[in-house]
Amino acid sequence: MKAVVLEKTCKADELEVKEVPIPKVVKDKVLLKVKGFGINRSEIILRDYEADEDYIDLPVIPGIECIGEIVGPSNSSFKKGDIVACLMGGMGRTFDGSYAEYALIPIKNTFKVRENTLKNLSLEEIISIPETYFTAYGSLYECLNLKSDDVLLIRGATSATGISAIQLAQITGAKIIATSRNQKGIEKLEKLGVDYPIIDDGDICQKVLDIFPEGVEKVLDLIGPSKLNDTIKTLKFRGILCITGVLGGEEYVKNFNPIADVPNGRYLTGFYSNYPTQKIMDDMFDFIIKNNVKPVISAVFNSLEDISKAHILMESNKVQGKIIFKLD
Ligand SMILES: NC(=O)c1ccc[n+]([C@@H]2O[C@H](COP(=O)([O-])OP(=O)(O)OC[C@H]3O[C@@H](n4cnc5c(N)ncnc54)[C@H](OP(=O)(O)O)[C@@H]3O)[C@@H](O)[C@H]2O)c1
Repeated sequence: MKAVVLEKTCKADELEVKEVPIPKVVKDKVLLKVKGFGINRSEIILRDYEADEDYIDLPVIPGIECIGEIVGPSNSSFKKGDIVACLMGGMGRTFDGSYAEYALIPIKNTFKVRENTLKNLSLEEIISIPETYFTAYGSLYECLNLKSDDVLLIRGATSATGISAIQLAQITGAKIIATSRNQKGIEKLEKLGVDYPIIDDGDICQKVLDIFPEGVEKVLDLIGPSKLNDTIKTLKFRGILCITGVLGGEEYVKNFNPIADVPNGRYLTGFYSNYPTQKIMDDMFDFIIKNNVKPVISAVFNSLEDISKAHILMESNKVQGKIIFKLD
């Protein structure tokens, strides 16, 4: 089969497609034909520097998510021909992932895509959903407990995750403040119907307080530790901030004193998409279908040979929405 094989950290244009054996079916793992996958920031991070970490077994086939068709059900309850979504749990990092024609994935990271979903959404839409919407859905409802009368700030809102969070939060009825670093992003946010699009020039706290002087109830933070000191000050008393992304480039909080830097009565949490379940995936797809959410797809590639182009496109920050591969 063809697969993108990462042997060491490299630049986007150095990614290569190779011929490798189709994996053999083993106990507790299913073999699937990959129908498509989304591109994620964490795959850029893996290629760029994370592949040098001890816990990454090189060479590795990247790709933390995919939609596939079961060809080898092994000891699972899946049948040949079932369409499944696979994500996380070490996929594309500690075991081979989805940048390939076939993938061997642990049963516990494989979730049935039900008839209702296949009937109501196109294959491209289904491919664009698993990791991105699961992350937005979990951040908003599991971590932030978003309510209809909340004001929600989304920092890093033009990212694929940010856009899906905007769509889901609008269904809930929350008022939304959302950021982009440039005018093109602001126009995108306006088109999406965001109540208060604002420019992020590094410090947004005062801009948010100019609109809501007491602060906001909820913050979905996709920029992360590099701006935490500024972001956390936008919270209202009893407000919650969920760090989900690290677009700002820093994964760890430096020089952060929780006693002094978290204002009294404000709460800090984080979301990690490593633990999807069949129930949450079903609930999420049902929520998307019931509310007629249309995933925003910014680019579709049809050949693994285009993997460098896709990584370059993501790094350019020129598209707003999900980049996907649809392989058949
Ligand atoms: N916690 C989890 O389990 C989990 C799961 C999925 C994703 N994530 C994280 O969520 C974040 C979003 O991922 P994604 O795949 O949705 O991203 P994406 O679509 O690639 O995001 C692209 C947008 O991010 C903004 N951006 C890029 N670099 C930035 C910087 N240095 N500072 C501020 N904004 C920047 C740009 O918007 P503007 O140019 O408009 O400002 C750009 O258009 C990533 O950090 C990813 O690792 C976390």
